[in-house]
Amino acid sequence: MSAEPLELYRDRNHACLMFSDLVEEDGQAVQANQFLIVDSGTGAIIDPGGNLAFNELFMGMSRHFAPHKLSYLIASHADPDIIASLDRWLTSTSAQLVISRVWERFVPHFTKPGKTEHRVIGVPDSGGVLPLGANQLVLLPAHFLHSEGNFHFYDPVSRILFTGDLGVSLTSGQEAREPVTELAPHIARMEGFHRRYMVSNKILRLWTRMARQLDVAMIVPQHGAPIMGQRAIADFYNWLDGLACGIDLFDGRAYQVPALAIDPASARKA
Ligand SMILES: [Fe+2]
Ligand SMILES: [Fe+2]
Repeated sequence: MSAEPLELYRDRNHACLMFSDLVEEDGQAVQANQFLIVDSGTGAIIDPGGNLAFNELFMGMSRHFAPHKLSYLIASHADPDIIASLDRWLTSTSAQLVISRVWERFVPHFTKPGKTEHRVIGVPDSGGVLPLGANQLVLLPAHFLHSEGNFHFYDPVSRILFTGDLGVSLTSGQEAREPVTELAPHIARMEGFHRRYMVSNKILRLWTRMARQLDVAMIVPQHGAPIMGQRAIADFYNWLDGLACGIDLFDGRAYQVPALAIDPASARKA
């Protein structure tokens, strides 16, 4: 476990830091990355994570940016590993939550009553451009990849595309710090997850058509390692274009009334 972030980008006015190793790796919770973006003294956290990450992230972040100055908590979607720590962030900072309108009225369930009042910026399905310091962050539509209301975040300064659960690989927090520059050997770590968690090939192809219009230096997912460089990124888009996933793979066989007994004793995880 390490609280020291990986510096994805830094210049005089702008920094992108990735925390990848804040949660004890005991096999129960999936490894997850959290991000701090700072531009000209304004700060945002992307996908702050669950309660497991809160204390370490808050302390780790404090070494680079004063939490009370944080402007945004930006959530790609509303899964527990993305935003379950919302109550504690809203208590400890004055940041606004930026999240899809699809989830705007669901996230108050993560907090004590009234906590989200005047603190949520609901993003319409078409996305938008969010001011951040002297620059902006582009909130890109990524619905159904995998969540119904889902955004990716493009930072034009660092040319990083933060892709939430798209491009995820299942690794340790240490391995997540090593950017992948060659896609072929990496596919085995991504394939099972994408086949089950992504909704359909149609959506993947709509997304790659949009993503190819952007100048991207690095694709940075919420689990596992960044994908870096023109060649690996082009290979990643091509891989997605040809990937059958989600409802492409489900047919009547997946919807049978089950007869198999679940044994609570052996099914329970240690
Ligand atoms: Fe998710
Ligand atoms: Fe996730």
